[in-house]
Amino acid sequence: MTAILEVDNLVKKYGDFEAVGGVSFSVEQGEVFGLLGPNGAGKTQTISMLTGVIEPTAGTARIGGYDIRSQMDQVKKINGLVPQDLALYPTLSARANLNFFGRIYGLRGKELKERVEDVLRIVALTDRADQAVDKYSGGMKRRVNIAAGLIHHPKLFFLDEPTVGVDPQSRNHIFESVLRLNRERGMSIVYTSHYMEEVELLCNRVAIIDQGKIIAMDTIKNLTALLGGGVIYVGLARVDDEILAGLAGLPAVAEATTVPSPVAPPASEEQALEAADRPPVSTEALVKVVAKQNQQAIVNVINYLNEHNQNLTSLEILEPNLESVFLHLTGKKLRE
Ligand SMILES: Nc1ncnc2c1ncn2[C@@H]1O[C@H](COP(=O)(O)OP(=O)(O)OP(=O)(O)O)[C@@H](O)[C@H]1O
Ligand SMILES: [Mg+2]
Repeated sequence: MTAILEVDNLVKKYGDFEAVGGVSFSVEQGEVFGLLGPNGAGKTQTISMLTGVIEPTAGTARIGGYDIRSQMDQVKKINGLVPQDLALYPTLSARANLNFFGRIYGLRGKELKERVEDVLRIVALTDRADQAVDKYSGGMKRRVNIAAGLIHHPKLFFLDEPTVGVDPQSRNHIFESVLRLNRERGMSIVYTSHYMEEVELLCNRVAIIDQGKIIAMDTIKNLTALLGGGVIYVGLARVDDEILAGLAGLPAVAEATTVPSPVAPPASEEQALEAADRPPVSTEALVKVVAKQNQQAIVNVINYLNEHNQNLTSLEILEPNLESVFLHLTGKKLRE
């Protein structure tokens, strides 16, 4: 396979602040590659450098063999971009908007007309194409934006969070278009999102980005395998080392540890003094069980607790998905 995009230690700084702190990755021809990360992670800044919207502070990238720092004119013929913010003329119809963007790329006459009709079909807006864009729903506007990014038949298509603020129907249209462009036209795609469900559905490989750095990059299967079978949180009335060791030793369980739960501060000084006089009582505890295989681990954990007369006060199961991988790597949720 040949890479259509090779990113080499790309950096974007604003003063001392590193919006992008040296990212490197490559995208193969015909691949759908995901950039997954929370707000402010550096996704848009990365894409903006790759599409010539902003200049890198350091590092570079090659797209179709052309260097983004010295050959952006060539790169722009290969790239298509759907920016995170809509860029359309609201009073013009979808068709007029697309004609306008097509002319920017030097398309004229019959070729321009055919391209406009083609991209309208891709986003399923042919029927509404003569209506002014400001009469469209958010999702339809987004689909016109996607059509505009496709007008010059790019080989590498960047979509920056294309489903934010979009109704479910348009969202499905967008997913279908992305998959069809990839499968039927062999288009390579870079798709950014902070929805792990989307990335799981669309992408072959994904880079998880946080605070300007790539913290993990692989196929979704390999990334979720980082977690083994997933994580089970078990609330118990009381816990001791024997129980923990017993849980950790069960088949299909990799480890069992207690999770510190926040202790309510004493309401008054008197209460605090009183509490200090009493021997410590073990209170409710949360145990984190890392599973090698989720289903089997759940059965074994519950059986073990029953056999040892332990009262289960809560049970939460985290499936091995990209959201739990992100939580595992950063201690944060993707959407705070
Ligand atoms: N012109 C600028 N000046 C200073 N800082 C900036 C500028 N543009 C972006 N940043 C900062 O760079 C960081 C990365 O921003 P970026 O827009 O790439 O995030 P993102 O991953 O696309 O997030 P979101 O999911 O919210 O779109 C943020 O902390 C942002 O505030
Ligand atoms: Mg962004």
